[in-house]
Amino acid sequence: MRTDTPHTIYRKDYASPSFFVDTVEMGFDLDPDATIVATRLTMRRNPASRGKTLVLYGESLRLVALRMNGKALSKRAYTLGHGTLEIANPPDEVVLEIETVTQPSQNTSLMGLYVSNGNFFTQCEAEGFRKITFFPDRPDVMATYKVMLRADKEKYPVLLGNGNLVEQGDLGDGRHYAVWEDPFRKPSYLFALVAGNLVCQEETFRLQDGRDALLQVWVEEGNLDKTQHAMESLKNSIRWDEERFGLELDLDRFMIVAVSDFNMGAMENKGLNIFNTKYVLANPRIATDVDFANIESVVGHEYFHNWTGNRVTCRDWFQLSLKEGLTVFRDQEFSADMIGTDSGRAVKRIEDVRVLRQAQFPEDAGPMAHPVRPDSYVEINNFYTVTIYEKGSEVVRMYQTLLGRDGFRKGMDLYFQRHDGQAVECDDFRRAMADASGRNLDQFELWYSQAGTPRVTVATRYDEMSNIYTMSFTQSCPPTPGQPKKLPFHIPVAVGLLDSSGRDIPLRLQKGGTEGSSEGVHANDPAPTTMVLELTQQTQTFDFVGVLEQPVPSLLRNFSAPVVLEYDYTDAELGFLMANDSDPFNRWEAGQRLALRRMLSLVREVKQGAALDASLLDTALTDAFRVTLTDTSLDPAFRELALTLPSESVVAEQMEVVDPQAIHAVRRFLRRSLAQALRAEWLAAYEANLTPGEYSPDAESAGKRGLKNLALSYLLDLDESDGHQLAQSQYDAANNMTDRLSALGALVNSSAPGREDALARFYDEFENEALVIDKWFSLQAVSYNTDVEAVRALMRHPAFSLKNPNRARSLIFSFCSGNPAQFHAPDGSGYAYWAELVITLNALNPQVAARLARVMDRWRKYEPALQRNMRNALEDVAAAKSLSKDVLEVITKSLAN
Ligand code: TRP
Ligand code: ZN
Repeated sequence: MRTDTPHTIYRKDYASPSFFVDTVEMGFDLDPDATIVATRLTMRRNPASRGKTLVLYGESLRLVALRMNGKALSKRAYTLGHGTLEIANPPDEVVLEIETVTQPSQNTSLMGLYVSNGNFFTQCEAEGFRKITFFPDRPDVMATYKVMLRADKEKYPVLLGNGNLVEQGDLGDGRHYAVWEDPFRKPSYLFALVAGNLVCQEETFRLQDGRDALLQVWVEEGNLDKTQHAMESLKNSIRWDEERFGLELDLDRFMIVAVSDFNMGAMENKGLNIFNTKYVLANPRIATDVDFANIESVVGHEYFHNWTGNRVTCRDWFQLSLKEGLTVFRDQEFSADMIGTDSGRAVKRIEDVRVLRQAQFPEDAGPMAHPVRPDSYVEINNFYTVTIYEKGSEVVRMYQTLLGRDGFRKGMDLYFQRHDGQAVECDDFRRAMADASGRNLDQFELWYSQAGTPRVTVATRYDEMSNIYTMSFTQSCPPTPGQPKKLPFHIPVAVGLLDSSGRDIPLRLQKGGTEGSSEGVHANDPAPTTMVLELTQQTQTFDFVGVLEQPVPSLLRNFSAPVVLEYDYTDAELGFLMANDSDPFNRWEAGQRLALRRMLSLVREVKQGAALDASLLDTALTDAFRVTLTDTSLDPAFRELALTLPSESVVAEQMEVVDPQAIHAVRRFLRRSLAQALRAEWLAAYEANLTPGEYSPDAESAGKRGLKNLALSYLLDLDESDGHQLAQSQYDAANNMTDRLSALGALVNSSAPGREDALARFYDEFENEALVIDKWFSLQAVSYNTDVEAVRALMRHPAFSLKNPNRARSLIFSFCSGNPAQFHAPDGSGYAYWAELVITLNALNPQVAARLARVMDRWRKYEPALQRNMRNALEDVAAAKSLSKDVLEVITKSLAN
């Protein structure tokens, strides 16, 4: 940790390494208090590098021995700096032998080698390998690894490493060993080992090329009844990558290991993926439908990294989105294909866009805004962001929209043909897409270099005489830190036109348009009903000919670009699109636009002193909601999304000055009004979407439960005894966690008499299921009824721990980011709590602390009185001693102008 001004690293300063590593051999003597690591590196000078010095990185290590080409190096032959070890002017070929000692039991950062529940795990991305040994720990140094693990056989019966198991046996003295060899060259961030008392579910799986692979899911004893879904997801992932991208598993063995203490979701270490238990363990008793879906998607994500990340990796960490954006795109497509139906795909698309808008748009508008390929960073761990992941995925998706599925596949094929085994840049990916398709994608580069969410404003004109319908587009992009001015982006905008009966009008363009070839658009169809218009200039106009009546435009279908699209729809047009658009994404979008418009006008009323009562409401929204709720031709999953009001944070982003109390009051008022007005319809939807019989997490059943539980939550917002009873009986009868947790959540948000009792019973029943206890904390943290004092009381609960990131997140993060009305209490008590916790967590786990620090990102958007309290809290953190560079970077950028 450091307290001086953070040191910034720039992309423009990239220099290739002075030495490459060909082979790495390591021996581990595993001991929680002192693990000895002996490393032998075969290195050779990089003829293209101008650097003469051999640079290794190391952190929190005790250096015991250092030999070069067989001879011990004297203290004068090398320099130990701040996190570096440098050898000046070594020969061109070097064999370096290094002995280091680390203390895994004291490692609360969960980077490098650490202990969780008595077992050993590693986390090396991004720069954790340097906490294990001195090494040129950068992704453009790729080597093959051979690793021997030694440990007490009784305490650590299972010893796992990357690649293939080549040897194992006893050492006498109660210890045993295993030797693992990874035949593929890899960067050090993909190194992993696991040692401990674990059990596995395993299966042999026949690959498309005829080979058999051994698949294993490793967990702590007692959890084998929770591995089936992860195993199924893994097999589906392998099959999907074969079929959709022609990519085969390249190892004989593929392992997933679950660990309870983990900073993020999961990690794609070669052949040995390590997962947060949250994304592995599931059965109907403990996991919700959302958990099941998340597990499928994260298992897919990590598996897909084997090609997009591991076989082709990043040249430097500025290229992080090269692997993350692409792999998120792949996991999104995988999940959509697993649902299979068109409307299921649309539901998945809506959910993904919701995440983008709720988390990435604010990031792009705040002090931490950065391009998909950043130009600088202080701490790379702070750049595992929604921009790198989710916006990065949207950028990849736009290639597919522009080139079509087949064109995109050709680009992928060329990418692997050119770069297998290499560490490359985002530009290499773009070049493969351009070269494979013959299209010019030069301007597309701006999606990687410019931060900020572009605005696209649309104006339309219909000429009855000529039957021409004109769309004019204007694009702009707000300034972001370090980027006051932006150039126009290359934006694919998918559009359609609806006639007065709600049907799609065949589209014919007069000039200026390029017929796209996105899904559903056929390049040689003379008059498609969806067309991808390509914006490349600040303003552009498109004329549609042969339009026989004034149409209603359906704009940015399927959310074809990560932009804010502004068009002056009337309420009636929105209701019409909601009921008729053939593009299900835009049906949902129309409802959200209408709801958002109402919420914003109600907030204005409240701020002018109006009391929230029925006189403020017209029937447009209620009528539109009624139509959707009762339209049984629509999937329940779709209806659930369409009937969910924009979240408080989405509303907040739309406002110049944010008043969290007013937004909260308005959203609750609107929910209660919708509950009241549609009471019978909600009840009917509840009854119609019961899923009796054995639980199954499939999308159709999950969709029904989703709609049913949304209905329940609306009904409970009335806070009346029939609702209370409905929730209570659902709680008592539930045979799965989805129904149980929804009922409990609804009760906790109400004043139902059974509220406390249900909470206590839930705790008793699931006391031994850590992931369920996380839900128990989190559900209370986000309840309207929970204030900061109640959160502090929950922190004193014996089951609470700051050291376990899942537990810390379940209470602290849930409160600070999921309970805005309480967190933004006018007296600043929420902010003081936040500051205290950032400082405490900073000493334990800087990565987790820095994530919490980001909760205050948008502080300048709040009302002046809140802003003052927020600034005070930020300054309290800034003034704290021994801040990690993780936290320091976030706080410094937040306070900067
Ligand atoms: N590469 C991982 C993923 O996206 C991310 C990750 C897991 C990570 N653990 C981490 C990043 C720790 C930084 C630090 O799948
Ligand atoms: Zn990833």
